[in-house]
Amino acid sequence: MSAFFLGRPGDTPSGGAASSPPGWRRRLPRLYEAPMSNAAAPSPAAANDDVMKKVVALCKSRGFVYQSSEIYGGLKSAYDYGPLGCELKRNLMSEWWRDMVTCRENVVGLDASIIMRPEVWRASGHAAGFADPLVDCQVSQERFRADKAPRPAAPGPLPITCADKGVAKTYAEIIEKKFGVVLERDGNVLNGLVASSATEFGYVPKGASAPTQTWAWRGYVSPLIGSPFLTAEKSFNLMFRTALGAVDPMQEVAEVTAALTGGSEDLPTAIRAKFGKDAAEGTVLGKAIAVGDRAKMLRAVAEHVTSSAMVYMRPETAQAMFVQFRNVQQSMAAKIPFGIAQMGKSFRNEITVEHFIFRSCEFEQMEMEFFCEPGTQLQWMEYWKDQRMSWWTRYANDPTKFRFRTHEKDELAHYADGCYDVEYLYPWGWGELEGIASRTDHDLHAHQEASGQSLEYVDQEKEDPKTGKKPWKYLPYVIEPAAGATRAVLCFLLDAYCEEERTTATGEKELRTLLKLHPRLAPIKCAVLPLVKKDGMPEKAREIIDAMLKAGITAKYDEKGSVGKRYAKHDEIGTPWCATVDGQTLTDGTVTVRDRDTTVQVRVAISDLVATIKAKLENFER
Ligand code: GAP
Repeated sequence: MSAFFLGRPGDTPSGGAASSPPGWRRRLPRLYEAPMSNAAAPSPAAANDDVMKKVVALCKSRGFVYQSSEIYGGLKSAYDYGPLGCELKRNLMSEWWRDMVTCRENVVGLDASIIMRPEVWRASGHAAGFADPLVDCQVSQERFRADKAPRPAAPGPLPITCADKGVAKTYAEIIEKKFGVVLERDGNVLNGLVASSATEFGYVPKGASAPTQTWAWRGYVSPLIGSPFLTAEKSFNLMFRTALGAVDPMQEVAEVTAALTGGSEDLPTAIRAKFGKDAAEGTVLGKAIAVGDRAKMLRAVAEHVTSSAMVYMRPETAQAMFVQFRNVQQSMAAKIPFGIAQMGKSFRNEITVEHFIFRSCEFEQMEMEFFCEPGTQLQWMEYWKDQRMSWWTRYANDPTKFRFRTHEKDELAHYADGCYDVEYLYPWGWGELEGIASRTDHDLHAHQEASGQSLEYVDQEKEDPKTGKKPWKYLPYVIEPAAGATRAVLCFLLDAYCEEERTTATGEKELRTLLKLHPRLAPIKCAVLPLVKKDGMPEKAREIIDAMLKAGITAKYDEKGSVGKRYAKHDEIGTPWCATVDGQTLTDGTVTVRDRDTTVQVRVAISDLVATIKAKLENFER
């Protein structure tokens, strides 16, 4: 599949016509993400599928992740993090914050609003896509942006090129069923369609000179396979819109359109009379709209009427860090190089939500903009690549499942001078976890221009390389490591999920399911278990719990079921240690501490327990 490019305004892929949904971010994902290959998957697809199903089932049964609004039939695009899931996500995000902000002198934090002024998204390019027409291929179901689709010459052949012979056979069958023609198959290519004019294509059987059947054509084909069998164009944008203010904009739309459509058949004239714009024929409220396209005209009216109230839910956390660059730099007297970090919710009206929490419409991100001197960006890029990969692998059982993917030249936005994805080997193949991009001064430049406010940094100590005089005023360059927090939750759950066969005390074989979560990520750090519910053991266990909670260790008292079952339950939810109060505790003041991964138990004095768990948490190494 061709790599779809999504950039901010002016982002144009250098390669090929098979590109570019709405004016989005620099790289693939968003509307269409890079195809995920499972070529390197170490085990068979079915087994991998099984792991995913087991993790999803465990997430629900053990309180990690639930489907949103489940009792009403569920919402596929959103998820709720249950008692253990929200602890895991919070721990993961705290670890990121600790590593990226708390432990660094040159990075500061920001917690910006989710709703910002619409100008932010116009300058960043995210809003541009609202009027972009999207189309579906009726053969492959691919959705793409009409104005960026390949436009083959007419008259001329329109071969449909499939991924392989099998796909070609399937698509030939679909075309026969839907459109009643049997195309000639030549390997992975389906022949027989021709563009007969700029507005019509047809089927010309082998040896024939004229089409036996024709269809209307809009002059372009689908980027993926070159199919001219397409649906009507529809506008689409990945940002969620909402309205600010007491007046309901839908009411205004209804009133205005009722007046326009009720009063006159000549819609363009009625619109011009109401809004006093657009003398030119074929233009309505500043938009080029064909005479007679009433739906588009009314859409333009609706956009116009609601534009002052419309705001967007942020589709990334990054923009606020550019918009607040000057405030942060001045209020903190920050010197370049320095970073601004932010984590939190983002919202994208994804066309395809998939693989559980891998891609959802509401998700969380952990992003940092690192501002540096022009010319130093590639050194910083190397630095942040190392830092970020070391962060991911620090918490992983299997570091070999993390890798970098370098973006090809034709994937890069014109202003970017490098971009890498940190990828994880998910059960379905390699997929993105984080993007690390060298964005030059593009974003600050765009906001400076759109806002009319200077976002330049003034370095009093350095000479301007052009004039040789102090100070040096410049727009800093930016390295942006942008990670998905909710995607990271899925990655570490998959990395931690493990089944082990073991022999019980009675010699039977049993399967032990465990989550080998890094203790700093684990929702519960220590379970405290009275061996039995009598002889003062529950009371002793409660004392221990109190001490742990006071010391800030997330601990859980658990007395239900046999101690073996309780160990099994805590293995399954990733609790790294279980402290058990038994008969000996009451005589010598010690408890057993069982390790989740090795199942080895050691006796520890209650008086040392808090310090022991704290030390294990701080110094844990795989
Ligand atoms: N500011 C840069 C930016 O937003 P991105 O690659 O679009 O770049 C960064 O997003 C990360 O956010 C991705 O690597 C991915 O981990 C996560 N992400 C993006 N869209 C997502 C979605 N719909 N669901 C879950 N995570 C998503």
